[in-house]
Amino acid sequence: MLRKIGVIIVLIFLLLGCGETEEKKHISFHPGALWPDTEGNHINAHGGGFLIYDDTYYWFGEHKGINSRAQVGVRVYASKDLYNWENKGVALSVVDDENSKLQRGCILERPKVIFNKKTNKFVMWFHHELKDQGYSNALTGVAIADKVTGPYEYLDSFRIHAGVLPLNFSEDDFEKAELITDENTEERKEKVISGAYLKRDFEVGQMSRDMTLFVDEDETAYHITASEENRTLLISKLSDDYTSVTDEYIRVLPGGRNEAPAIFKKNGKYFMFSSGLTGWKPNPGKLAVSDDMMGHWTSLGNPCVGTEEEMNTTFWSQSTYVIPVLGKEDAFIFAADRWNPKNHIDGRYVWLPVQFKNDIPYIEWFDSWNLSFFNHDKK
Ligand code: DGJ
Repeated sequence: MLRKIGVIIVLIFLLLGCGETEEKKHISFHPGALWPDTEGNHINAHGGGFLIYDDTYYWFGEHKGINSRAQVGVRVYASKDLYNWENKGVALSVVDDENSKLQRGCILERPKVIFNKKTNKFVMWFHHELKDQGYSNALTGVAIADKVTGPYEYLDSFRIHAGVLPLNFSEDDFEKAELITDENTEERKEKVISGAYLKRDFEVGQMSRDMTLFVDEDETAYHITASEENRTLLISKLSDDYTSVTDEYIRVLPGGRNEAPAIFKKNGKYFMFSSGLTGWKPNPGKLAVSDDMMGHWTSLGNPCVGTEEEMNTTFWSQSTYVIPVLGKEDAFIFAADRWNPKNHIDGRYVWLPVQFKNDIPYIEWFDSWNLSFFNHDKK
């Protein structure tokens, strides 16, 4: 009898849904698996950027449908623990006005948000391509908000640095740069390195595709982008209010074919993860280091450690951001996208801990892991 009563109590408990929230809570990361938000829907924030504000993590990303064109805009999620994410809605919406550059159906990728302490505004930058024009425009877009989750007010999208030479490219270099007339020539790479595309786009402004932002300890912010037909990265200092690029910019790894840059800083050194150039298909990851954001960057090769296949595909993913973990010393998460170009909404997220050997970052695969991996609390 007592047993029967016990069973009935348990059943009533289960029917009332007690303990349900506890069960649904994620307590670890599962790279490449579906990742339900707090309402049970797979997180829709691809090519993501992360902002830590008020002890909360905010995840901004591309809201994707089956194809990758922007039908909705930038979605934002919030989390206190990095495992459980609450959908906070659409931070930046595309619009139905055909006179707006932000028209529904445009391409809006890799949104990143930073907070400006002087203006108290949240500033979002993103890669933007106009509707029905493929990837030909290569613009960077900017939007601002008073509240972290938005709504973000769209300001504009543009090419960058029209008529301005990079700090590490002299007038003499410009003179010597030879334009590319035959795309198939052997010397193409040499010409790219010498500044062929920079010269070609000098008047109209430099291309800007895959991009990220980085705010340094002194609050100086940088815009890092794939330019020159994705052959060369440009790093530009942002203005004090973070809403425009200044004339201070450099060419980085010319001819290196880097996409998907993601930057973090450890012990005064700046590290940049990036990928090669193969569209939605994964390729071997890359790593570069510099002592100065606006200084010389040195390639360190592939940061992935594992099987040949894992190393050749960056664990079937492409970098998007490096998330610093709150309360942990030198704890960083490599956040990447596992694209699914047949059904973009099903794209997965590959998050792996950044590890260090002789102070050089590397990444290896874990089927699942949690933040206790970083067992050193911040002093
Ligand atoms: C690779 C980029 O990293 C993505 O953001 C996207 O632009 C695809 N290429 C498009 O092919």
